[in-house]
Amino acid sequence: MKQHIAIDGPAGAGKSTVARLLAWRLGYLYLDTGAFYRAVTLHFLELGLGKEDLERGEIARFLQSVRIDICPGDETRIFLNGRDVSRDIRTPEVDALVSYVAKAPEVRNFLREVQRRIALSRPSVVEGRDIGTVILPEADLKVFLTALPEVRARRRWRELALRGKKVDYKVVLKNVLERDSIDSQRSCAPLQQAQDAVVVDTSHLTVEEVVEKLYIMATEENHGGSCGCLFRVL
Ligand code: DC
Repeated sequence: MKQHIAIDGPAGAGKSTVARLLAWRLGYLYLDTGAFYRAVTLHFLELGLGKEDLERGEIARFLQSVRIDICPGDETRIFLNGRDVSRDIRTPEVDALVSYVAKAPEVRNFLREVQRRIALSRPSVVEGRDIGTVILPEADLKVFLTALPEVRARRRWRELALRGKKVDYKVVLKNVLERDSIDSQRSCAPLQQAQDAVVVDTSHLTVEEVVEKLYIMATEENHGGSCGCLFRVL
């Protein structure tokens, strides 16, 4: 069995749903690292900070007043300075600012060690953008989940609608494309596929099909090759 599974990919590729179900099936810890960036973003929004303030590079000072705790479970519950913000971090306002927060090296350094420590504390399925490359480069299985931007935007739009948030689909698509561009072009730990990651395109797959695929990869023994093989029959 693979002990540490990294799932990376762009917004709306299905990472959260798939990672959560996979972790549940394996009996592993599920860690949603995006929630940490969202909690920091919510903190900045509550302080009245915007893009311009972040670009002015005053972030380190504001991070001093941030404490983040998580309560693992089917859904990672996340606490910002002792307050459960699991729902508040999923708003269009947070969506609009989070990529700007996530590109700040101060924020990434601040979150890297805590995410790594939690991920390594027990068998885990960890999802984000830099898991296979930065947070858990030693993961036993790395998966890069992707899907067409229109499919990802439709999924995000549906998710918001289910939560009673009526947003124009075109606005959601614009936000998805903008986040893709910022996340993959930032200089610090950009969204990129680890060299040893398996790419899975979820555009035309159901959640169950994706989970099944990953479950097989997570539970199969390594055969042949140089990785995890003590001897080979020639
Ligand atoms: O997965 P998500 O949509 O909740 O992520 C929110 C933002 O955080 C997204 O714009 C990218 C960023 N993020 C990141 O840079 N690195 C991670 N490991 C996880 C998320």
